[in-house]
Amino acid sequence: MAEPKENVLMEKIVSLCKRRGFVYQSSEIYGGINGFWDYGPLGAELKRNVKDLWWREMVRLRDDVVGLEATIIMARQIWEASGHTKTFSDPMCDCLLTKKRFRADQIEAQSGIAYFYGGAVDESGAAHNVPYSVLVPAGKPPESARKTATQFYELRGIKVKSLEGERSEKAEQTTRYNPENGSLLSEARPFNLMLQTYVGPIQSEENIAYLRPETAQAIFAQFKNVLETSRQKVPFGIAQMGKAFRNEVTPRNFIFRSREFEQMELEFFIKPDEAIEAMTGTVATPGEGHPGEPQPDWGWQMWHKYWVEERIRFYEGIGLPRTTLEEYWQKPEELAHYARATVDILFKFPFGTQELEGIAARSDFDLSQHERFSGKAMGVFDEEVRTAWGKLDEEKKKALWQRYYDARFKYLTKSGVAPVHAEKDAKEDADGLAKGQYIPHVIEPSAGVDRLILALLANAFAEINEPDSKGKNETRVVMRFHPRVAPIKAAVLPLLKNKPELVAKADAIFKDLRQHMMAFYDDAGSIGRRYARQDEAGTPFCITVDFETLEGVKEINPETGEAVSNPEKKDTVTIRYRGNTDADNGKQERIAISELREWLLARIR
Ligand code: GAP
Repeated sequence: MAEPKENVLMEKIVSLCKRRGFVYQSSEIYGGINGFWDYGPLGAELKRNVKDLWWREMVRLRDDVVGLEATIIMARQIWEASGHTKTFSDPMCDCLLTKKRFRADQIEAQSGIAYFYGGAVDESGAAHNVPYSVLVPAGKPPESARKTATQFYELRGIKVKSLEGERSEKAEQTTRYNPENGSLLSEARPFNLMLQTYVGPIQSEENIAYLRPETAQAIFAQFKNVLETSRQKVPFGIAQMGKAFRNEVTPRNFIFRSREFEQMELEFFIKPDEAIEAMTGTVATPGEGHPGEPQPDWGWQMWHKYWVEERIRFYEGIGLPRTTLEEYWQKPEELAHYARATVDILFKFPFGTQELEGIAARSDFDLSQHERFSGKAMGVFDEEVRTAWGKLDEEKKKALWQRYYDARFKYLTKSGVAPVHAEKDAKEDADGLAKGQYIPHVIEPSAGVDRLILALLANAFAEINEPDSKGKNETRVVMRFHPRVAPIKAAVLPLLKNKPELVAKADAIFKDLRQHMMAFYDDAGSIGRRYARQDEAGTPFCITVDFETLEGVKEINPETGEAVSNPEKKDTVTIRYRGNTDADNGKQERIAISELREWLLARIR
């Protein structure tokens, strides 16, 4: 099996996606729009499968998670409380020559000779003092720097007679220059990534609204409603999936980083560690591997580890082997200010190993913020904690009270509350814990649908070399999706399209299967071409209706050595399985039509 090179592989994937209808560029007929992608017929099915599997695993099969479907536009205060209005930004700078915009933290460091200019004198002899600088590779003549500088001044309307104050300096590993042309870049400034619109007929400051940059915040904002209407109690989770929008400075790598995308997020609410300790005497600490079924003595670290392992298990279950994934535990200096720990699940994309999903332990930051900003209580009352607290000895009570107080005081002061008020509020919070009241902490597994689609596409992509119908070797694409995610589960292929009995049989099978799964009927072209088309679409099962289906499977008569149809073995079909491992690739099996549906359902669930 050929192993395509990495960057070439991305090109092949993008081209297959367009050719077969997985993903198209948005607004392509008008030249496209950067950072936006549309899913075609196969892509839409693939995406639906991914989302359905996530929802099934995270919500339907669990007793402790419920769903939410909130709006994309929400009250503006939500983004003030969450910190997005102030801090959800990327550092950006512009090329002073071409105006091209760069993410300051993604500029490649370069070395060379930097030429500095104080300004330029125009043809009338007037001096224009506008400092500028150009980086050229060591050994390149100063003329190239002068040429760029002249262009820079002329773009500002100065008819350059001479450049002023040229001096040069060696520059090592600098990110201050445009790697494409050597021009100086502007200073980096924060650029807010939220996409903005107006709600109502007047485009005024007070009518500004944002398209949500993550689905998570609605979960926090609706926490109390869900708690009161779902009969859940902490620990429990609220899951949501849907569109999110970010005005990414550099959308790139196909659907990996786009401006409109989908997220699948779970906010799993847990008791603070002090409450766990009050109830069970200790807080369990994680070891290696999956920690198993949730236990009453689990604090945030165990829950965090549990969700990391559960999410990896999910990816394995849809065909991404553990060997394609990596866990990256963020270093303390990389953590968001509210996070106690964050694990990124990375996937080996063709362009490098990058984040597929983040799993953050967010403490009680989010609900606390919404409590402060909305003035509505976000805490819960927990009878078990109150009862357990009543049974503690005084020393333990004091120690746990103090720890909870310290944590609350730290959060409040970090959030800008004056220390005198923070002291009073933290004291009230710690007294509240003793009565069974607390603000739940949160573990957040947050995945991107589109990134997962790209990971599945990259993982499924394979090229095989096989002789075609004329015996000539040809290279063609086989998408080896796991049957659970494959866009089309089964293709029904009558051997010949001009044999009414074959067609009627195939049609009946197709009409039955499509009630239960995404099935496809294809009678055009040779059987080999039809298999090849389904290989590109990633269809795991091809069902061929042939003469043996009508007349019975051919068996060798031991006496004559002739192959004769056994009428008792009528109504069978050939299933060709294009699996996601070498072992099951291209396997064929003969199966009774009466068993077909169940046979397939057992393999696609
Ligand atoms: N609520 C937490 C949150 O939104 P994030 O790391 O910013 O965290 C979570 O985003 C996931 O959303 C990422 O792991 C990624 O899969 C996906 N994602 C984020 N930005 C994206 C973009 N511009 N394009 C596609 N997917 C994106």
